[in-house]
Amino acid sequence: MEVRLAEHAGFCFGVKRAVDTVYEQIKIGKNIYTYGPIVHNEEVVKELADKGVKVLASKEELMSLPGGRDFRADPCDAPCPETKVIIRAHGVSEEIYRILEEKGLECVDATCPFVRRIQKKAAEESDKGKHIVIVGDPGHPEVEGIVGRCKGPVTVLESLQEAEEAVFLDKEELCIVAQTTFNYNKFHDIVEILGKRGYNGNVVNTICNATEERQRSARALALEADVMIVIGSRHSSNTTKLYEICSEVCAHTYFIQTLDDLHLALPKAVRLVGITAGASTPNKLIEEVQNYVRINF
Ligand code: F3S
Repeated sequence: MEVRLAEHAGFCFGVKRAVDTVYEQIKIGKNIYTYGPIVHNEEVVKELADKGVKVLASKEELMSLPGGRDFRADPCDAPCPETKVIIRAHGVSEEIYRILEEKGLECVDATCPFVRRIQKKAAEESDKGKHIVIVGDPGHPEVEGIVGRCKGPVTVLESLQEAEEAVFLDKEELCIVAQTTFNYNKFHDIVEILGKRGYNGNVVNTICNATEERQRSARALALEADVMIVIGSRHSSNTTKLYEICSEVCAHTYFIQTLDDLHLALPKAVRLVGITAGASTPNKLIEEVQNYVRINF
């Protein structure tokens, strides 16, 4: 029986970089916080918590950090050198940087360079007076971060219906960008709807190919495999998507969060077990599952 890992699986470049950054900071040994969980994976967050890394769940929690005060009411001029706040791969709004600066907190910025590129593009085009249209989830921190970079009008569209209903001024020039993890076909459809309604503009496809690569290689492997194992958090939307894709073409697809969830009873006829994992699943976990299946079946 062969056990094969999908060509693209697990941490994407940006997430790996952000998680590595936290481990580097742990070595330096300061009082470390991440602004939100560094990755949508409970195992990783727990491991970091065991090493003393704390998660800031909101702006209010950031404002109330030890050594800091609400800068608007009581500006804090004394820096707090013992505390570091790490920014996640999908970035934050400028307001968060401002709060960090005002409070004198040290910031380690692990924003993915691909996300930074969109922030920069949106800021530049907004400065030129264009109306920025972001195709993505308005509640996602990455989108909030991009919105925060725009000085002029900005609209977030998530669905085809929203694209049908959106209203822009007649002479307004648009610049359309996308959240890095948005579905490409849906992005294309939204742009098409806007075009048909007479709203054209500068379209910048800013979707990161890490998501597409993972989905494409998971499907290719699931087509060949007798059994597919998808590893990742139930809260990770990209892992859930991988599970759906694999289930469509491989009837024996299993979704597991950790090795403990794996209760396989493989028939003798199984020739190929495929494994894939979401962009927030660490390598260590993928290797554990791979080795377990190889040794036990
Ligand atoms: Fe960066 Fe793409 Fe991952 S934008 S965080 S490499 S999905």
